[in-house]
Amino acid sequence: MTATRPDAPGLTGTDTLGGHTTRQLLRLCEVVGLTAHDAEVYARTLTAMLGAAAARPLDLPPPNPTFLSDDHTPVEFSLSFVPGAAPTLRVLLEPGCAVGDLAQNGRLGLRAVRETAARWGFATDRLDELEDLFLPPSPEGPFALWCALELRPGGVPKVKVYLNPAANGRGHAAATVREALRRLGHHDAFAALPPHDRHLFFALDLGDWAEPRVKVYLAHQDLSAAEAGALSRTGGLPRAAEAERAEQNEEFFRIAAGQDEADGGGSETALAPAPAVRRPVQSCHAFTESASGLPSGFTLYVPVRDYAPHDGEALTRATVLLGRYGQDPAPLSAAVSALTDRGPEEGVGLVAYLALAHQQGQPPRVTTYLSSEAYAVRPPVGLLPAEPATVR
Ligand code: TRP
Repeated sequence: MTATRPDAPGLTGTDTLGGHTTRQLLRLCEVVGLTAHDAEVYARTLTAMLGAAAARPLDLPPPNPTFLSDDHTPVEFSLSFVPGAAPTLRVLLEPGCAVGDLAQNGRLGLRAVRETAARWGFATDRLDELEDLFLPPSPEGPFALWCALELRPGGVPKVKVYLNPAANGRGHAAATVREALRRLGHHDAFAALPPHDRHLFFALDLGDWAEPRVKVYLAHQDLSAAEAGALSRTGGLPRAAEAERAEQNEEFFRIAAGQDEADGGGSETALAPAPAVRRPVQSCHAFTESASGLPSGFTLYVPVRDYAPHDGEALTRATVLLGRYGQDPAPLSAAVSALTDRGPEEGVGLVAYLALAHQQGQPPRVTTYLSSEAYAVRPPVGLLPAEPATVR
């Protein structure tokens, strides 16, 4: 059976998870102008890092109920928009996804990261120092280890590893984060974090970064736009610049969450009832040097899929936000077509998050997180009320 499914370009009845996601990756590489050679290298890397799960037929259920994406695809793409250049393509994946057991999943993940690092000659010593903290023999929590690759021109990715602060139990997440920061020399970093509800991720840059970061991700439940604006704690900014950043974050939150005054009080209320459960807004605090005790980078993440009735609306907001920062939205539309044949109004969740990142010495960056939807599309709000996601 090789009938082409209408909702995913090139998807056939005998397709595999690896086949589906690498084809998406190859098309996205073309969108951002990577060479065919770089694209091939990155597609092979993705396949290798997915391990045994790559060969899994797509008509079987997801290899494990990973929360990396809503439909449990262990892969998510993102486009980060930088002024004056093509956007950067990144891919987030769960290398241990072939197994459900968290301890084993984490061990597989660690091995995949070490193999990737060895292949490109990266050191993993900072990760090694944290292994016992984040990958204990009986880990708890929603995941063990994720990895992201920034697909640069030249065929050598930059690597990011995401670890679980709740690995020793939710009650120990704060202590785990504090100890991890301390081991990496960031003694004062923990005290610099803003008020929050939960520690979500602890991340490390590995490989060829000018300034490798240590990042702490926090969840903020029921945040107002003004509160979102006030979350950034970076150092080294004059007062006026700090106020401008808070305003940018606040405006970004309003537009991404559909609370924009300018569109007549919010398309959100007009078009879509709020879903019963909304994912929290997240903030990320990036530490590079340890002298100031303050982060040098800040990112605000809005889970736009929980605040929009369908992806058409999410894409409209993304386009407005890209315009605010002088970015051409064309690569975003091209990326959507590279991922799926379905219309944006036919589902919600293809655009998972919209993010605004500030890093010292660089202009603000807008990032769009794009789902693979290998397994399911969440129906748009209002068309199929109270339906769970349809599994294809
Ligand atoms: N799917 C998870 C979530 O929605 C984790 C995740 C995937 C995530 N990509 C992300 C979180 C980008 C923040 C930003 O929370």
